[in-house]
Amino acid sequence: MPHYRRFSDASVSEKILDTMFLVTIGLGYLFALGHTFFSHEGRDGQAGLSVEDVKIAYYGEHQQTRLGAALNGGMAGNLDNDEQKQVIVDWIEGGNDKAAFELNVAPILNSNCIGCHSAEAEMGLPPLTSYEDVVKLTHADTGASIQSLVRVSHIHLFGIAFILFFVGRIFILCEMPVMTKRITVAIPFLAILVDILSWYITKFIPGFAFVVVIAGGLMGISLTIQILVSLYQMWFYHPKVEPIEM
Ligand code: HEC
Repeated sequence: MPHYRRFSDASVSEKILDTMFLVTIGLGYLFALGHTFFSHEGRDGQAGLSVEDVKIAYYGEHQQTRLGAALNGGMAGNLDNDEQKQVIVDWIEGGNDKAAFELNVAPILNSNCIGCHSAEAEMGLPPLTSYEDVVKLTHADTGASIQSLVRVSHIHLFGIAFILFFVGRIFILCEMPVMTKRITVAIPFLAILVDILSWYITKFIPGFAFVVVIAGGLMGISLTIQILVSLYQMWFYHPKVEPIEM
C-alpha cells in the first residue's frame, strides 16, 4: 500500500515551521481585511463597509464626481461652512467654467485645501492648485480604472496563489475523508478567481458587487478553516487508523 504523508509523520521542527507560517499568514490576512475596510469603508457616506461601498469602488457613482464625492464625504470637514460647498457644487453643475473658477472656487480651495493638496505638500494627493487640476476631478466617477484593476489583479493572483498553495500543501497532511479534502483545497482558488473576475464585471454591471463580497468571503472562510484545522491536527489530533489515500 502506498504511504502518503500525514502530520503523524512530520517531525517537530517541521510542525514548528508550518505553525509559524500559518500563524503569520493568518495575521497577514487579518491586516489585509483591515486594509480592505479602511480603503472602501464610508464611500457611500455611511460608516462601515457595505456592498454599496464595493459597488462604488468598482462601478463608481455615475452621477457623482470625485470632487463632489470628496466634499460630501471625508473632505467636508475641511470647509468652513455649507455655503462654500454649495459654491463648489454649483460650479461643477454649471459646467465648470474657468472664469467662475478663478472668481469663486479658487479662493476656497486656496484657504482650505491646498495645505494638503499641492505638489509642495508632498502628500501624493491630487493637487487643487490650478483650474486644469481641479477640472480633472469634476468628471463623473466611473470607479476603479481598468488599468488599476489590472495592476491589482496581477499582484493579487501571484501573491495569493503562493499563499493558498503553501497553506493547502500543509492542509493535505490532515486526516479526513478524501472527497472533503479534495474539495477543500480547490475552493479558495476558485473563490479568488471568481472574486477577481467579478471586479471587472462590477465595473460595468454594479449589481455584481455582491459576488465580489461573497467570493471574497468564501476565500477568507476556506483559508481560515484550512489554517485552523491544520494547526489543530498537527498538535492535538492522534489518528488511530492507518491513512489510506491522498
Ligand atoms: C489635512 C489634509 C487635507 C486637507 C486640508 C484636504 N484634504 Fe482632501 N484629501 C486628504 C487625504 C489624506 C485624502 C485621501 C484619503 C481620503 O480620501 O480620505 C484626500 C482626498 C481628497 C479627494 C479624493 C481624491 C481622489 O483620489 O478621488 C478630493 C477630491 C479631495 N481630497 C478634495 C479636497 C478639498 C476640496 C479640500 C478642501 C475643502 C481638501 N481635500 C482638503 C487630505 C486633505
